[in-house]
This record gives sequence, C-alpha cells and structure tokens, in this order.
Amino acid sequence: AAYQEPYRPQFHFSPKENWMNDPNGLMYENGTYHLFFQQNPTAPVAGNIHWGHATSTDLVHWQQQPTALAPDSLGLIFSGSAVLDAQNTSGLGQPGRPAMVALYTSHSEKKEKLGRQDVENQSLAYSLDHGQTWTKYAQNPVLKNQGSRDFRDPKVNWYAPGKKWLMALSAHDHIEFYSSKNLLAWTKESDFGRTLGGHGGVWECPDLIQVPDEQGKLHDVLIVNMNPGGPNGGSATQYFVGSFDGKTFRATQPGTHWLDYGPDNYAGVTWTNLPAGSPVTLIGWMSNWNYGQQVPTNPWRSAMTVPRTLRLRSAAGQLELASQPIAGLAKLYDQPVTLSNVAVNGRYDLGKQLKTRTGRFRLNFTVPKAQTWSVVLGNDRDERLTIGYDHAKKEYYLDRSKSGNIAFAPADKGFAQVARAPRLATGPTQEITLLVDAASVELFADGGLTCMTGIFFPSEPMTELVALQAESALTLPRVELAGMKSI
Ligand code: FRU
Repeated sequence: AAYQEPYRPQFHFSPKENWMNDPNGLMYENGTYHLFFQQNPTAPVAGNIHWGHATSTDLVHWQQQPTALAPDSLGLIFSGSAVLDAQNTSGLGQPGRPAMVALYTSHSEKKEKLGRQDVENQSLAYSLDHGQTWTKYAQNPVLKNQGSRDFRDPKVNWYAPGKKWLMALSAHDHIEFYSSKNLLAWTKESDFGRTLGGHGGVWECPDLIQVPDEQGKLHDVLIVNMNPGGPNGGSATQYFVGSFDGKTFRATQPGTHWLDYGPDNYAGVTWTNLPAGSPVTLIGWMSNWNYGQQVPTNPWRSAMTVPRTLRLRSAAGQLELASQPIAGLAKLYDQPVTLSNVAVNGRYDLGKQLKTRTGRFRLNFTVPKAQTWSVVLGNDRDERLTIGYDHAKKEYYLDRSKSGNIAFAPADKGFAQVARAPRLATGPTQEITLLVDAASVELFADGGLTCMTGIFFPSEPMTELVALQAESALTLPRVELAGMKSI
C-alpha cells in the first residue's frame, strides 16, 4: 500500500512517487506551511525538474498537493524561494488577495547543450489563491545571468531596515546579493565568500537569516550549501556568522562551520513569513548527491529531514548554530516512558523499554560526564547501525557499514564509510537526542551543537535490538524513550 513500502519514512515528508531533492519556496501563509520541492514527476531520478508541493498546518503532518510549477521555454524549474508580498510592492496582488511570490532559477538544457554559459536565469511566479495555482510572470527572467555558469537558487527575504527585498544567490564559488523594491527589478549589491569557508565544491542554495544567541541578541547568519566537499563526503551545509549592513555581508568568525556533519542533510533553507514569535525553522533534503539517485527505494526517492529550529550557542569562544527538532514533533510520541538512574553496565537493553515495536522512536538522554558510549540498532539478520561518541577522539560517529544494503552505490561514493563529527561543546554534560525512522537517523548532540543525519537500508526493519553501550560504568539520570506515530 502507498506509504507502507519497505524503507518508507513514517514521520518525515517523502513524495508519493518519483524523484525529490531540495526543499523550495518554504513559506507560511494564512494558517498553512508550504513546502515546495525539486521534483521529477515522471521518474525516480533527477531531471525534468518541476516544483512539487506539500502543505501542513503544523509542520508535522504533510499533504502532497498537485505539482506547482512546470518547465517552460526558459527551462527547468530549479531551486528558489517564496515570500508574501503583503504590501503589494510587485503590483501583482489584487485588493484582498496579496500575492505569494516565488523566485526560482530557470535552467535551460537547450543552452547547456549549446555550451553557453548563460544557462541559469532567475524567474518569478505568483499565486493569488494561497499557493494552489501559479502564474508565471510574463517578462521572465527577472534577473539575467551575470556571467557565471552556476547562477542559481535565489533566496529572498524582506530587509526591513532598508525597506527592500534582498536576494542571496549562489554563483559557483561565492554568494551574490541583489536588492529590489518590487521583486521584479533587481540591483547588484555585493559578492561574498570567494576565499572564505569550505570550497571543496560548488556553492548552492544560500539563505541569509537572523538567528538569536543565548541572550536573545540577533546575529546575521549566511547559510551556504555546497556539493561536493562536505565533511564526510559529498553534499553538506556550511554557515557563516557575521553581519550584513544592507549591502555587504562580513563573516566575523574564522574557519568552516557545518550545520550537520552527517552525510544526509543537504540544501537546507528556512521558512519565510512565520507567525510572530516563531523560531527560525529549517528543513533539508535527507540525502546526498553522491548516491541519492541510487538509493534502493521504490516508487519514490528521497525524504526531507524533520523541520529543525536554529539558535546560536557559544562553544569554545565561537557562536555556532545549534539545531533541534521542532517542538511540535512531541505530538507524535507513542507510549512515551521516562526512566531514571539507568545503569549501563556494558549493555543496556533499550528495546525492552520501548513499548512500540515499529523500529521508529525518539530517544533522549543525558550523560552527566562525557565518556565513550554508543546506541546500537539491529535486526535478526545481524545488521547493525551504530551511533556513538568516542571520548578519546572527542568525536561523534555514525557507522552504517553493516546496516544492510550498502552496495547500491559504487564504493567510492562513500555510503559505507563511518561518518565522524567533532564534539563542539566543551562542558561535561552531554544531552543527546536521536530520531529514528524506517530508514534514517538524526542525531542532535549537546543540544544540537553537533548534528549527524544519515540514511540506511536494512534488509529487515531494525526492531530486534536497541541497546545503549558504555565502556565504563555509566548511570544516566534520565532517559526518555517514545515510539513515533506515523504521519
Ligand atoms: C542543489 C541543486 C541546486 C539546484 C537544484 C537542481 O541540490 O543542485 O543548486 O537548483 O539542486 O535540482
């Protein structure tokens, strides 16, 4: 049955069928959260890219909607964003019917075949019926290629101090900023990043956001997705903390900072127009260009991560983005239990404490003093998935080398490699959350300072073994465990 196939995510959004990649056009309007996405409606591989569409009233339960945007003479519909033009700056709205405006990249395969470099241009579409139907702007493109073969993924936000729209755009090895009074005519403001951060791949899908620190002070943060060159191979998301003065973004911290060190969180961007008081909320594509088109799922390919809230927290003198699953996921907890003073002498059988036998759960625990431990999932085929912490190396890791089908992609694509991540937190206490679905695990360590997301494909569900292991005697003051209901 639909949504019951092997590996089908039960609390993550996945398309009913065929291919999906990046989240696009994330916006809230009139009680509805919109999630558009890169979609091939005719095949389970990339190509023939449209904007698919899903809606939600709580960011937890999703309903797939008819495809929103289809390719035209300007090309395929690559990634982009959406805003609510409440003041009708574009003139595209009507009295009582403000326009939802999407900015996306038109990617011309025709020009690509001719070897031209102006393959990618930015186009606009709008909706006057809450995102149900979309009209493309007659004079597309609204921003023509400025000389870079890679010139895509416009992310637009309202810049209140300058009373203007601001677009972050990726241009191969840097980000370009453009501004506009009406979403139709765009003026170049500045370039950022040619010699900063990670440059092991092409920069894609940027997002300039404001994120509060622990004192509630807002900082400008620039999210930059990059493929390949991630910390564990292939696609990954880096970010820069800094300040934007209306024209130029300046990074104020050295080094390369990763939103998620796992192999399977890419193209993440944030929702616009959220209700007042909502935290900054991001969602990513839970896959990797290294093997995403080969994963052994049918009739769909790919899922999104759970939506995550972002905050800045200080660690070792730097501000780092900390991610947490959105609070609303708690409504999915199934027969939750809270255990106190759990003694892990070698191995502790968590599976026995889990009241549901579905293989999907949320686990949260606190380690009073950082030390080596692991959480093991398994089945009776002797397949194992291990998520753990190596205190000697001060590294979290995700080992899916024996997790089932690891041979669907060539070995050099790295699917079976153990993924590693530094522990950024320096305090003694470790607070750990794991979200496990049919074919994915999301680790939020130290309150989300270090995250790792990975997908896996066991030949039978991982329901036989869920264990906590520790080298030395470990007593966990509190362990929360809950099954996860299907959405
Ligand atoms: C990122 C990306 C974007 C592009 C889209 C095409 O995964 O390569 O840069 O717009 O996917 O589907």
